Amino acid sequence: MKNIKSYVNQHKDRFISELIELLKIPSVSADSAFNKDILKTADAVKNALEKAGCDKVEICETPGNPIVYGEKIIDKKLPTILVYGHYDVQPADPIELWNSPPFEPVIKKTEIHPDGAIFARGACDDKGQMYMHVKALEYMVKNNELPCNVKFMIEGEEEIGSVSLAWFVERNQEKLANDIILISDTGMISNSQPSITTGLRGLSYVEVEVTGPNRDLHSGLYGGAVANPINILAQMIASLHDENNHITIPGFYDKVADLSKEERAEMAKAPFSLDEYKKALDIDEVYGEKGYTTNERNSIRPTLDVNGIWGGYIGEGAKTVIASKAHAKISMRLVPNQDWQEITELFKKHFENIAPKSVKVKVIPHHGGQGYVTPIDTIGYKAASKAYQESFGVAPIPQRSGGSIPIVALFEKELKSKTILMGFGLDSDAIHSPNEHFGVFNYLKGIETIPLFYKYFTEMS
Ligand code: BES
Ligand code: MN
Ligand code: MN
Repeated sequence: MKNIKSYVNQHKDRFISELIELLKIPSVSADSAFNKDILKTADAVKNALEKAGCDKVEICETPGNPIVYGEKIIDKKLPTILVYGHYDVQPADPIELWNSPPFEPVIKKTEIHPDGAIFARGACDDKGQMYMHVKALEYMVKNNELPCNVKFMIEGEEEIGSVSLAWFVERNQEKLANDIILISDTGMISNSQPSITTGLRGLSYVEVEVTGPNRDLHSGLYGGAVANPINILAQMIASLHDENNHITIPGFYDKVADLSKEERAEMAKAPFSLDEYKKALDIDEVYGEKGYTTNERNSIRPTLDVNGIWGGYIGEGAKTVIASKAHAKISMRLVPNQDWQEITELFKKHFENIAPKSVKVKVIPHHGGQGYVTPIDTIGYKAASKAYQESFGVAPIPQRSGGSIPIVALFEKELKSKTILMGFGLDSDAIHSPNEHFGVFNYLKGIETIPLFYKYFTEMS
């Protein structure tokens, strides 16, 4: 693969403009107002896969958003790589906090990305990272360097729980048969220190509703005499952590897989500056579970966070009122051996238990999924490691991430194959936030690294 660097260099302007076109389509899966754009994006992905050299590409209907499937089978005796990615994106709001419109991509230089970064919703998560695989395939096919079979499965519901993908995978085990699954939907430590993600946290996402009186009340006439659902909800949420920031739900930690001293010491070797971390977020102090470092708190430990809370009067000026209802959305990030459905049950029981008699409580479970850890003594990991080493000139470090891609555990269960998480984003790329971006360097490096993985994985198989 002597040509990959020069091929990327020669075609980089086109690679960037093609991605920009894809980013212009607002494929927000959470909001049905964007349904047409979801279909438009699936179509664009299909066309891109065909152009890149897939022999068979189809848009697979599901009960929800379509899945784009493509393949190029060159020899049944050779290994097969299944590439997974998602074409849906998070909602762009709050839109007023974007420096340029979320679906009108622009390239701007930043301190971390001196070569420029593409600013748009989905630039990094995951259209940009998914598209690296399409362009890597283009290179391999055009230059006769595709060493093995490849299948693509690009879905449109990752950001809302991959419900239709689970349905699809259960029904298409043969079609999706593979030797390894390859995903670029995570990050790395920095542009000078690549890393390979070896773990993802599980997730349990719930919504709660606290109901007090049957109607909104005058806060003078009734205040102090009936339970205020917002006050109660705030107390209940506060009680979910103790003074050491341990979660107080009985049984919550029972199945948590603890890391050995050696494993924790190994983790602590990864380059990390607490000062830079605080500076980047403009916080004076970090926060979290007692007895663990920042990197442990956001990867190997389970957590509970309120993601949204509402109720009562939030319009202009003041309105003296005791609301009838208060609500919150809560996510729990889970670690290996914790089962998301079991945790959801434990949460529900506990939350109902701690509610005072003066209110009624409803717990509404949303989506969830299991965590995942990949071994590093496999040919998949070794091939990925060699690929990064060659394209970056630096050996990558294994690192567990705090994020979740719940479908990965399901892949292992249904398709019996391991996943390699070759991410090229950075934590500072603002995924899910206003001003999401993806470094041009990262995008091109990804395109350069992926064919090397194909080569080494095939050689080692
Ligand atoms: N790509 C992210 C997950 C991610 C990002 C993992 C960075 C590791 C590093 C994915 O699109 C995502 O946002 N997942 C959701 C879960 C999903 C069920 C909504 C998450 O982690 O919140
Ligand atoms: Mn993603
Ligand atoms: Mn995401």
